[in-house]
Amino acid sequence: MATAAVRCLLTVAVVLAPLLAGADAGRPLSTGFYNKKCPNVQSIVRAAMAQAVTAEPRMGASILRMFFHDCFVNGCDASILLDDTASFTGEKNAGPNANSVRGYEVIDAIKTQVEVSCNATVSCADILALAARDAVNLLGGPTWTVYLGRRDALTASQSAANANLPGPGSSLATLITMFGNKGLSPRDMTALSGAHTVGQARCSTFRDRIYNDANINTTFASLRQQTCPQASGDATLAPIDAQTPEAFDNAYYRNLMSKQGLFHSDQELFNGGSQDALVKKYSGNAAMFAADFAKAMVKMGAISPLTGTQGEVRLNCRNAN
Ligand code: HEM
Ligand SMILES: *[C@@H]1O[C@H](CO)[C@@H](O)[C@H](O)[C@H]1NC(C)=O
Ligand SMILES: *[C@@H]1O[C@H](CO)[C@@H](O)[C@H](O)[C@H]1NC(C)=O
Repeated sequence: MATAAVRCLLTVAVVLAPLLAGADAGRPLSTGFYNKKCPNVQSIVRAAMAQAVTAEPRMGASILRMFFHDCFVNGCDASILLDDTASFTGEKNAGPNANSVRGYEVIDAIKTQVEVSCNATVSCADILALAARDAVNLLGGPTWTVYLGRRDALTASQSAANANLPGPGSSLATLITMFGNKGLSPRDMTALSGAHTVGQARCSTFRDRIYNDANINTTFASLRQQTCPQASGDATLAPIDAQTPEAFDNAYYRNLMSKQGLFHSDQELFNGGSQDALVKKYSGNAAMFAADFAKAMVKMGAISPLTGTQGEVRLNCRNAN
């Protein structure tokens, strides 16, 4: 009798589980998700990011990129923050991330502060979304309202990171396809690429461009070659936007128009193709770029989130609970 009742309950649970999971998967992100549960989360993140960016402006760029690399790999689920374990090889050591993505300790520090205020409540994925928004604004870029309610992945995939993140040698067609695969339009792609108005890159990522590309300003190529030799100096850094490397402005697009895109993939946006007209517009209209960038960031932040009872709220961003 007891056994039959248990069996009946189990059957109900098995039948309902996929329906509930479906409902959870469809639960949208919302702007007020933590209003009652953790009213201070946004001010905690903002203050911590202000401190980090003041100490080192490049950190704003690094956190922004980390969010991009999280969202493009199985959605915005903080999978990029997971350290490798015995049971999976994660994303940190994937080609596009190893010795490149930085700022993990900034997210750890924010998470620690958020846990003190509201234990086991705010996901690492949401902290990263808020931190990226604040990073842009603290560097002089736009701000926007962040939709919240993402949950954290239980696992991470090195092969997914290698497959889903575009490389600096990408063609325009590849960029459009890879962003299209994530539900982002060519216009979103061109706006989001404006993130390369801040931050630094290693010689190894742009060597091919400065020695072998035709569509490059020769003065600019010579300048970059001085610190990025043909056969050494892989890790030597150069600003991606040489004009204003610490300001989130629209100089990136003017660079493209004077053939000073640092990556081959950057210059592909202004190389006689479909994005030339938009690049020209952004180069002369900072407000239009700022508005489009903010809109595209909200869209990128909504790529395949885990919601409802999917995943978990991690206590430590580096490990599943
Ligand atoms: C369109 C395709 C993209 C390609 C091919 C690309 C490629 C790269 C590469 C190769 C680097 C230098 C990495 C290194 O030297 O270690 C870099 C840096 C950076 N990327 Fe992208 N990226 C793309 C799109 C984006 C997007 C969509 C964002 C953000 C919305 C972004 C934000 C950044 C930032 C801020 C940096 C500098 C990071 C730092 O200084 O730590 N990128 N990117
Ligand atoms: C935070 O919450 C977790 C899970 O509910 C619990 O295990 C942990 O002891 C709590 N930590 C503090 C400091 O309250
Ligand atoms: C190349 O760069 C130099 C120096 O920044 C600039 O003055 C010049 O106008 C650029 N040339 C072209 C063809 O855009």
